[in-house]
Amino acid sequence: MSLAQRRILLGVSGGIAAYKSCELVRRLRELAAEVRVVMTEGATQFVSPTTFQALSGQPVRVSLWDEQAEAAMGHIELARWAERILIAPASADIIARLAHGHADDLLATVCLASAAPLYLAPAMNQQMWAHPAVQANVTLLRQRGAHVLGPADGEQACGDVGSGRMLEPHELRNALQSSFGGGVLDGLHVLVSAGPTYEDIDPVRFIGNRSSGRMGFAVAEAAAQAGAEVTLVAGPVSLATPAGVAQRIDVRSAAQMHAAVLDAARQADIYIAAAAVGDYRPNEVSAQKLKKLDGAKLALQLSENPDILTSLSTQPEHPFLVGFAAETHDVADYAQDKLRRKGLDMIAANQVGDGLGFEAADNALQLYWADGAVELPRAAKPELARQLIAQVAVRYRASRR
Ligand code: PMT
Repeated sequence: MSLAQRRILLGVSGGIAAYKSCELVRRLRELAAEVRVVMTEGATQFVSPTTFQALSGQPVRVSLWDEQAEAAMGHIELARWAERILIAPASADIIARLAHGHADDLLATVCLASAAPLYLAPAMNQQMWAHPAVQANVTLLRQRGAHVLGPADGEQACGDVGSGRMLEPHELRNALQSSFGGGVLDGLHVLVSAGPTYEDIDPVRFIGNRSSGRMGFAVAEAAAQAGAEVTLVAGPVSLATPAGVAQRIDVRSAAQMHAAVLDAARQADIYIAAAAVGDYRPNEVSAQKLKKLDGAKLALQLSENPDILTSLSTQPEHPFLVGFAAETHDVADYAQDKLRRKGLDMIAANQVGDGLGFEAADNALQLYWADGAVELPRAAKPELARQLIAQVAVRYRASRR
């Protein structure tokens, strides 16, 4: 997964996030990628071409009508030169022009004239990103094979909070890196479940759990970085889709997660179950808000949810199954019991409670399989996820021998 000598054309369109693309050029150059920058007129209002020229070590192109630049490397030559085109930030305007096949400036023309895979890192106000016109253009571009990286949620330069922030430079670099393959999960389809499930009691209350989705999202990102095509089934979380994840399916209840996972598992080689799935659901969901019973006890009748992993392991054909075990005590014993009882190939056990496992930024895992075990000491969840993926890849390959 090296970017050395890879030819990346970075398109920069007009948006305040253009300043982050300076850092992106630096990070790509650190890995010895060859970077050429094409800016829209709008982008030059935010960052000067001279800045990108100094960082990339190459002349920066803005205009289609620059005779001198065309003589040095014509726009068709530039389009052929690129192995990947990444537009970061991708404004609503460039997204619209690309969706409709315009060739009204250099960047749009190069995109039309190039056979290189196109990556877009949208960045705009959250209201603009949510607008049906922008969403329709993004859907169209996706259908034509463009890869859309992000956007992330959070505070925006305009003061709004919501979805529309450009992904961070290291996330974009990782996505480009994994697009060249050569990773330990190259050519494999990995399904990951993450986050909690919510079991509704009435229109305002539910039974949930403390999972933030951070562990599962880190696993999905690490699998994508390792070259896998990743499908992420996410419970109710407030996390942006990690860079490189091909498909995200949002669900709420355990029953919805069960259905989504079983459906997606038909295409998957590996399923990693990091979600904290509710074991029980109320027998009935009240259509109206339940009223207080003035001193009387309220009893909720619960039914057991089907176990997703067991539903898969009992099928004749199923993916390589990696479960998680969240335990407050006797972690090793309970985890090994779940490994056997649920028919898993591997299990990743973590101690939870007292600030461990759930919600935290870091975690520690003990991995078990039928005839082995390994400990992954405490680390930030993204780092731990990369170590887990490396172990899963080894065990998966061994099981196929
Ligand atoms: O999301 P974070 O805040 O980052 O926290 C991470 C985590 C603690 C949630 C994660 O590391 C973790 O341990 N996930 C599994 C939590 C869990 O539900 O464990 P369990 O021991 O109850 O379940 C065992 C396995 O069976 C899990 O893989 C679970 O996804 C699966 N399961 C559970 C119930 C069910 N009905 N179907 C299932 O497939």
